[in-house]
Amino acid sequence: MMKKLTLSALTALGLSAGAAMAAEGGHTHDVDFSFEGPFGSFDQMQLQRGLQVYTEVCSACHGLRYVPIRTLSDEGGPELPEDQVRAYAANLSEIMDPELDDFRARTPNDHFPMSSLENAPDLSLMAKARAGYHGPYGTGLSQLFNGIGGPEHIVSILTGYTGEEKEEAGTIYYENTAFAGGWIAMAPPLMGEDVEFADGHSNELHHEAEDVAAFLTWAAEPKMMARKQVGFTAVLFLVILSVLLYLTNKAIWAPIKKRAKEA
Ligand code: HEC
Repeated sequence: MMKKLTLSALTALGLSAGAAMAAEGGHTHDVDFSFEGPFGSFDQMQLQRGLQVYTEVCSACHGLRYVPIRTLSDEGGPELPEDQVRAYAANLSEIMDPELDDFRARTPNDHFPMSSLENAPDLSLMAKARAGYHGPYGTGLSQLFNGIGGPEHIVSILTGYTGEEKEEAGTIYYENTAFAGGWIAMAPPLMGEDVEFADGHSNELHHEAEDVAAFLTWAAEPKMMARKQVGFTAVLFLVILSVLLYLTNKAIWAPIKKRAKEA
């Protein structure tokens, strides 16, 4: 009886978890990124390629309004030389300067532009916003156990188009297996061979998608490496402290234990 009850309880749990996942809609597949794990770090060349994909394709609609342009030369990021960053800034759309009361060219101290298409979300924090999306009930457990998070979500969206389209109230929706609800208003932005990488890296669709996802992860969390390092130092410190406390404890109680044994 008990066995039967447990079994049916488990089945019910399984079913409801399955239903919750189905309702959530999006299917996300895992990608091994260089920055995963306690010792992972960003791949500078990949970030540069991702910046190129963002610049040549995504920036037509999406902004990165919270990202200061000068961080492109920061250590641990794409690490572009400063003259290239200046040239990059000058190539972006002009910015309204309240002091001049006029538009002027961007400099590295300005931020990237905002989205130019109204319904295209800003991508500055997208990789973090979508991090805890997955797993049963959107608990983020999948991120904890499988390392599936925001960058995987972005790759899955970019590679999840089925080719089906439908029109609703004047808007065209594209079927996408990774998007909650299954239909997204973004036309497939990447087809493969959309950009020509200077480092000769493959520009197949999934490579372009992974590169831009890595770049957007860096944009959302540029200090990820520093955070990991602090975490690692803290854990190491705690381990040493525990060993010391254990040994101290033993040393303090040793005479008393000895007396207890002798008695
Ligand atoms: C032609 C305009 C356009 C281009 C180009 C474009 N997008 Fe989008 N994107 C959109 C729109 C519109 C949405 C909102 C879709 C919706 O909510 O249904 C969107 C949504 C998104 C989302 C959010 C998905 C979610 O989970 O909510 C991501 C991530 C994204 N785009 C990434 C990219 C990347 C990366 C590129 C470049 C490779 C790109 N987009 C290029 C228009 C565009």
